[in-house]
Amino acid sequence: MDEATGSLPRLIAPGCVWTGGCMAASVSGMLAHYSCFLLMGSQRSILIDTGHPAHAEQVERDVVAALAGRPLDYIFPTHAELPHSGLLERWLSRWPQAVAVGDLRDWPLYLPHLTDRMRHVEGGETLDLGDRNFLFVPPVWRDLPDTLWGFDPTTRILFLSDACACFHPHTPGQSDHLSSEVAAPEVALMQDFNSKALHWPRFTDNAEGNAAMDALLARLDPAMLASAHGAVVDNWRDMLPLFKAGMARAA
Ligand SMILES: [Fe+2]
Ligand SMILES: [Fe+2]
Repeated sequence: MDEATGSLPRLIAPGCVWTGGCMAASVSGMLAHYSCFLLMGSQRSILIDTGHPAHAEQVERDVVAALAGRPLDYIFPTHAELPHSGLLERWLSRWPQAVAVGDLRDWPLYLPHLTDRMRHVEGGETLDLGDRNFLFVPPVWRDLPDTLWGFDPTTRILFLSDACACFHPHTPGQSDHLSSEVAAPEVALMQDFNSKALHWPRFTDNAEGNAAMDALLARLDPAMLASAHGAVVDNWRDMLPLFKAGMARAA
């Protein structure tokens, strides 16, 4: 893993690059992440989320540099929202051999001219990257009906899209910091984010979701949690009670 420099990209595990960018959060003076992750197996590579269109140049620069001449093989929008899928058409054009993967049932309606470049998958299916099979994971704390998570069995990184967004007093110079390198996330800020990003946490106590999340984490035993909207989490066992509190209804 690379040391933190203050700005993205950052190599967070062998073959896994964290890129994207940050923008002003709804809380004054704070920045929010809009991350995506490049995972390179021995034979094939996958970009997990497309990045936000505002960060297209940075994402392209970082992905091209990391691939070092290799093609990008797969693009995995975790769900059909702008920060996660808004650059799909651009990347399919930039890498003409790449295939879009994910829950893509609606995408032939958005990009009908690219239907032959889409592979619809469901949770439990795997993708052969050469030295590993990337696993598509049914989400627990999900956003939309088409949300999918992913798990790399080699680095043991769980990619979970909008979930476990590790909000902290994030200022310029902390954009590539891991959860263990910044102050603990603030529950009130996570509740505010989750109520806006996922919507349903404002209506439920989420008890079933907590149990399902415990079971998933016990089964996969991840080393890190890679969320699109917060610090990459390298100490999730310490953070999990805070994430659960962040999913509870705000007082
Ligand atoms: Fe979302
Ligand atoms: Fe999101």
